[in-house]
Amino acid sequence: MKRSRLAPAKVNLYLHVAAPDHRGYHPLRSLVVFADYGDEVRLTPGEGRLFIDGPFGQGLSAGEDNLVLKAVRRFEAATGVRVDNHDFHLTKNLPLASGVGGGSADAGTVLHLLREACAPEVTDDALSAMAAETGADGVMCLWAQASIAEGYGERLTPVTVPPLPAVLINPGVECPTPAVFKAYDAAAEFAPVDTQWRAEDLIDDLATTRNDLEAPAIRLVPVIGEVLASLRAQPETRFARMSGSGATCFALCKTLSEAETLAARLRADWPKAWVRACTLK
Ligand code: C5P
Repeated sequence: MKRSRLAPAKVNLYLHVAAPDHRGYHPLRSLVVFADYGDEVRLTPGEGRLFIDGPFGQGLSAGEDNLVLKAVRRFEAATGVRVDNHDFHLTKNLPLASGVGGGSADAGTVLHLLREACAPEVTDDALSAMAAETGADGVMCLWAQASIAEGYGERLTPVTVPPLPAVLINPGVECPTPAVFKAYDAAAEFAPVDTQWRAEDLIDDLATTRNDLEAPAIRLVPVIGEVLASLRAQPETRFARMSGSGATCFALCKTLSEAETLAARLRADWPKAWVRACTLK
């Protein structure tokens, strides 16, 4: 039987980052939401191979370092179930190393598909533990539910967020997460992780929050600053910020139709960028 599932893009509406611990990992607090757009992962009968296609498939390893196969190995180790009677197909629609959690979403999605196909008795907690081993964003991208993420991103409190029409734009420059955290540390300007987020008027409340990785990411990849300035100058933009460790930025709009108008204009202004109108929730 063929099984397929969306691996949605993650957006950090805010991301507050504290000083690193003794391992170099940063405690954080973030409001994460998920798009109705992302990669697609499919399972077919096969021999344990990974096939990759899609607009960002080129340049992505299909070897054991791919997060899909890492998740497969975690699943096998945790359940004792061999899954090499399946092939794995990844359609990579999201840009790589771009702050929208694509790799983590792929890993989480294959875990859901494998549980459905091979081991329905696996508990949610067990699946979370497997996802956590694929990376810091693993658990949030496994559940793909609007949440406040704390700890190192693995402690999730679900929240209700209204559907948010948005445009995602990535200028086509990879922004490796470790380098951005290092640049953040170098500036040594740690702000408290506390957040007075009330969700009464999301846009007003977001204005009182930050993405602490925005400034260091702009220092490393200055075009992010230009993208944000361009987003903030558009009439449809109610709020704009960078997601995660970048370089993808988002603009929140009033309606999906305004988001699509904005996306069309951004595609003309930024011909090399990846631009996508979507709904976040
Ligand atoms: O766990 P993951 O591979 O997604 O994290 C990539 C890198 O990002 C880590 O090696 C670490 O340098 C940095 N990171 C961090 N604090 C976090 C999450 C990630 O310093 N909370």
